[in-house]
Amino acid sequence: MSTKKNSSKPNIVKTFHIKTFGCQMNENDSEKISGMLKALGYQEETDVNKAGLVILNTCSIRENADERVLGNIGAFKTVKKTNPDLILAVCGCMMQQPEIVNQIVTKYPQVDLIFGTHNLHQVPELLNNYQVNGNRLIEVWEDSDTIVEDLPVDRKYPFKGFVTIMNGCNNFCTYCIVPYTRGREVSRQPDKIFDEVNKLVDDGCIEITLLGQNVNSYGNDLGDAVNFAKLLRELNTIDKLKRIRFMTSHPKDLTDDVIDAIAECDKVCNYIHLPIQSGSTRILKAMNRKYTQENILDRVNKIREKIPGVAITTDIIVGFPGETEADFLETLKVIKRCQFDSAFTFLYSIRTGTPAATMADQIPDEVKHDRINRSLKVLHQISHDINQTYQDQIVEVLVEETSRNNAKRMTGRTRTGKLVNFPGNESDIGTEIMVKITEAKTFSLDGEKIGQEGIHGATHTDDDAISANS
Ligand code: 5AD
Ligand code: SF4
Repeated sequence: MSTKKNSSKPNIVKTFHIKTFGCQMNENDSEKISGMLKALGYQEETDVNKAGLVILNTCSIRENADERVLGNIGAFKTVKKTNPDLILAVCGCMMQQPEIVNQIVTKYPQVDLIFGTHNLHQVPELLNNYQVNGNRLIEVWEDSDTIVEDLPVDRKYPFKGFVTIMNGCNNFCTYCIVPYTRGREVSRQPDKIFDEVNKLVDDGCIEITLLGQNVNSYGNDLGDAVNFAKLLRELNTIDKLKRIRFMTSHPKDLTDDVIDAIAECDKVCNYIHLPIQSGSTRILKAMNRKYTQENILDRVNKIREKIPGVAITTDIIVGFPGETEADFLETLKVIKRCQFDSAFTFLYSIRTGTPAATMADQIPDEVKHDRINRSLKVLHQISHDINQTYQDQIVEVLVEETSRNNAKRMTGRTRTGKLVNFPGNESDIGTEIMVKITEAKTFSLDGEKIGQEGIHGATHTDDDAISANS
């Protein structure tokens, strides 16, 4: 769709800046958009105020995400006055909601291009069309049952990369907007995933993170020959690849087979992000999560029994409609029983169009805030206690970047996902280094470099096992 705006041929400045909101899926989409733009001869501009093309890749998961994006779009009204050649494009999950697109069309004339999550591969075509007369263009596909392959990807890091293995979600948790913004589950063909990972490894990448809203149901739409456990086992055979991560797991689909594959594959990190959302079976039912408190405890016990030194993190929503104090206490009980290494904790946020938005008994803000504070207190104590077990241990760290506050310190992650800071230099970036932990804090570990990786190769190290378990 094209809407009339100014009908004059725009003056194109071929520099771009992408601002990404939300999850890793959006980050990976932004890497693809960046790849396509670079293939068109655009250059990245780090200063948003100087770029010829600004793309806001939006997130809709909670209300404050929407508000942040609208605030950002609003700010471009003045930017456009001083830089009339600026092209402002908005894409991502918010654009899959027609009422939001309408709001932008009527209230934000500074937006030139709108596209959605299913048609980001059309960026070159849309820019091309826009260049003809400068008319605003809106092109949002409602859904898609195919995955566009072979888009160029401009990766943020040369040594680690995201690999999307499936799009969409079929679960319709009653609070969640994602099934409406990302459509139904579509799995990529395993050979395409393989090709992408092999290419990444050839380019020097040693860690991959497999992405999907519910990776455990990977392949359900591809027949019996493929599933997530098989995919992990296959990827584990790739030479030179050292770390395999994945997110997100849904407890209802985390089969023994997947747990065994994680335990047996030496390259698969001993780390699982397992969002439980609530510990109350009654609330889990209202959330349409399709598991109970007993199921959570059973899965966590199984994971700990099979995977030495594993770290488990989670997501918790407090204040879901109808959540009583007793329900909340069940969540606290489960958090304590599961001993999560850390958790993302969210206040329930009404998402228009989802079943929970119209449920009776919405919880007052002050109750939500009280519950989030109480859960954080319990979670922080557990994180602190688990991190203390790393004191004086030797861990293998994949060094990621220079510390933000100190150019002489490097930061990286253990196989269990712990953030480690240590004195080092830029040449450490992208390598695995053995670090002795000298100070364990609640949210990170400080350490000293004791040598290059090699003692245990890329296996689950004994050190990891001791550090997270003892
Ligand atoms: N309100 C609060 N948190 C939400 N999440 C998803 N939808 C909502 C909502 N409406 C959280 C869930 C999910 C994470 C990505 O975001 O915990 O796992
Ligand atoms: Fe949302 Fe539930 Fe799908 Fe996760 S599994 S994306 S929470 S609907």
